[in-house]
Amino acid sequence: MFQVREQEIIFNEKIAGDIYLMKISGSYEVKEGQFFMLKAEGRDMTLFRPISIFDCDSYGVSFLYSVRGKGTEIFSKMKESDTMLLHGPYGNGFPKTEGKIAMVAGGIGMAPLYLTARRNPGSDLYIGIREDLYSQEELQLLEGLFEGCSVKFKIGGLITEIIDFDKYDSVFTCGPEVMMKAVSELHPDVYVSLEKHMGCGLGACLSCSCKVGGKMVKVCKDGPVFKGTEVNF
Ligand SMILES: Cc1cc2nc3c(=O)[nH]c(=O)nc-3n(C[C@H](O)[C@H](O)[C@H](O)COP(=O)(O)OP(=O)(O)OC[C@H]3O[C@@H](n4cnc5c(N)ncnc54)[C@H](O)[C@@H]3O)c2cc1C
Ligand code: FES
Repeated sequence: MFQVREQEIIFNEKIAGDIYLMKISGSYEVKEGQFFMLKAEGRDMTLFRPISIFDCDSYGVSFLYSVRGKGTEIFSKMKESDTMLLHGPYGNGFPKTEGKIAMVAGGIGMAPLYLTARRNPGSDLYIGIREDLYSQEELQLLEGLFEGCSVKFKIGGLITEIIDFDKYDSVFTCGPEVMMKAVSELHPDVYVSLEKHMGCGLGACLSCSCKVGGKMVKVCKDGPVFKGTEVNF
């Protein structure tokens, strides 16, 4: 049985275009690359939505999310002191690996890689952003979120063009499948964080099932992180 927590929003701010940063109060033990299931209390929402952990400290857990549909639109309207319902954290998260790691994100795929980069000092984070989405000012705000990490942003073009993959022992990636597929072909030790539509987040509803390594898996329970070589993109 899972426990749903009711927690207050500490802040919920628009960062750039459709991207928001929400911090929710409470004390949490989390692993980098894990996610929570979130729902706004008192709003017209039936299902919880999976959102990755962006950061976590003794005051609460924060989420960087983009508005895609009804649920995330409701999240974007929530205010400080409103109540969010959440359960988790779930998922295997990124593995502990030896040596130097390149972290490669496309768009909102940057969300699970901030805490991951901070907890793996010496790693390099590369973030690709489409050139037509944000103003210069918004890009600066977005870049400011990653202060303290070794991070390079590439606005427009292919993020893979600026990475010397030979310098790294392993690669963690999250973003559009086409990008994760390309990254998986450029290094022998790649870990990808898959995104599937999720009903429960707990392994009970099968809505996130897909084939990895020749067998059926549930992305919420067996993932969301898998070896890139095993995923049939
Ligand atoms: C493990 C995990 C971590 C995630 N972390 C983040 C994060 O950190 N930040 C973030 O912004 N997002 C994250 N997401 C994505 C996020 O969960 C979705 O954007 C969100 O659930 C969309 O909800 P919505 O109600 O706004 O949109 P919805 O109304 O549910 O739909 C949004 C879009 O998805 C399409 N869609 C609806 N149903 C399906 C389906 N069954 N299969 C495929 N497409 C469908 C719709 O057509 C629409 O275009 C994560 C997803 C997963 C699985
Ligand atoms: S979301 Fe229900 S089984 Fe994965």
